[in-house]
Amino acid sequence: MSDDVFIRDGTLYDWDTIHDLESVIFDDGSISKDMFTNISNNPNHSIKVDELDNRVVGYSIVLIIRLNAKISRIGVDPCFQGIGIGTNLLESIFQEVVEKKIKEINLFCLKNNFPALQLYKNNGFNICGNNWRYLDLLKTLEN
Ligand SMILES: CC(C)(COP(=O)(O)OP(=O)(O)OC[C@H]1O[C@@H](n2cnc3c(N)ncnc32)[C@H](O)[C@@H]1OP(=O)(O)O)[C@@H](O)C(=O)NCCC(=O)NCCS
Repeated sequence: MSDDVFIRDGTLYDWDTIHDLESVIFDDGSISKDMFTNISNNPNHSIKVDELDNRVVGYSIVLIIRLNAKISRIGVDPCFQGIGIGTNLLESIFQEVVEKKIKEINLFCLKNNFPALQLYKNNGFNICGNNWRYLDLLKTLEN
């Protein structure tokens, strides 16, 4: 991966870019501006954006409540998928979660979302639940 990739905390100012990304990434639509405002103002949420050559190409949103962490959103610009940006974001999430002494992180993923399932499998998530169209995936972190 290029040295020009870096991850920073996301803020409300990233809304437009994330909104544009979500509209091409997710079939079920994008987070509303009100919801994103609530998320960015809520200290229980961690937003990260991945920049490549000063362009936002990926982002993630994690909900952290006490010792529980859940990835609620992760997405990468289709033009930049498959080059390690999703993995990069996950590694940054794991680092933050470990620093907070959290031992487990989970998420829900559609059963037919094979790129995402591959990403999670590669990064140590295991299936811990099966609910209609979704799998519940869990990773145990070493603190
Ligand atoms: C899932 C997603 C975040 C992965 O991001 P990414 O930057 O492409 O991930 P990486 O480059 O780190 O690749 C990780 C793995 O994903 C797989 N992958 C990535 N893009 C893929 C594609 N288009 N088709 C098939 N597999 C793909 C690769 O197999 C790779 O594993 P490998 O190295 O063993 O081959 C990205 O595909 C995406 O934004 N998808 C749409 C949004 C989404 O589904 N989010 C997850 C909701 S649970």
